Amino acid sequence: MDRRRWRHLARDFDRDVTDTPRNDARGVIRRAVEEAAGQRRDRVLVDLGCGPATLIRRHASLFARAVGVDFADPVIALARKRCARVPQAELHCVDVALAGEQWPRTADVLACMNVVTSTSARKREAVGRALAAVARPGARLLLVVPALESVQHVHACCQTRNYESIAPPRNGLVSRGGDKQKFWTEGELREALERWGFSTPRLDKVSVPWSDEGVAAGDMRGLPGPWDWLAVARRAR
Ligand SMILES: C[S@@+](CC[C@H](N)C(=O)[O-])C[C@H]1O[C@@H](n2cnc3c(N)ncnc32)[C@H](O)[C@@H]1O
Repeated sequence: MDRRRWRHLARDFDRDVTDTPRNDARGVIRRAVEEAAGQRRDRVLVDLGCGPATLIRRHASLFARAVGVDFADPVIALARKRCARVPQAELHCVDVALAGEQWPRTADVLACMNVVTSTSARKREAVGRALAAVARPGARLLLVVPALESVQHVHACCQTRNYESIAPPRNGLVSRGGDKQKFWTEGELREALERWGFSTPRLDKVSVPWSDEGVAAGDMRGLPGPWDWLAVARRAR
């Protein structure tokens, strides 16, 4: 999706766009941020593609600075409004692909959640290079991407419960509300992180509501729900 489409969706962001930290029913993002922040309070959090800055609002108090970057101006306006009482928050309307030039080697903790989803491999690689450039050596990266295995799981659940659902495409480009987005396998994610200079990723699952998959939660009672991948990785020194 391009900037124009994100701007359009921003008109009703809370209704139309996934808020990853809010979906995090098991608290895996919260624990990963707290662990990465550690006890010191002089570190810098950078959230690339921050949306309305839910992550920053929740965790800025653990950092000296909390920098949020998003290229959709209505989204940044919303983030600024919501962070009005967060003194650490600095919110900028900039394309993530340019963040490496603006904030080189800045982040001790770097978040990028449900942003590397372009159908263009070239654009995804540009974000990967920006992640590498913004991270300080040894920085912790929290990268969330939609999971292709989750789409396969949802499809299998739907078959079990006689629900209509479309088989997941092999190329990982999945249509959601008319927009195609890149969904990642665990293997692709690990390979990309290595290519971008991040090592030893630990993978976990962040819950996604059944409703995001167009399925009523009540009809899937007793089955494990859908998920995004959360990779916690370290920038090489
Ligand atoms: C699905 S939302 C995720 C928001 C937030 N990270 C979360 O997980 O709740 C994706 C956000 O990334 C932003 N975005 C996508 N591509 C971007 C880019 N190249 N540069 C800056 N922001 C981008 C969009 O404007 C949108 O606000």
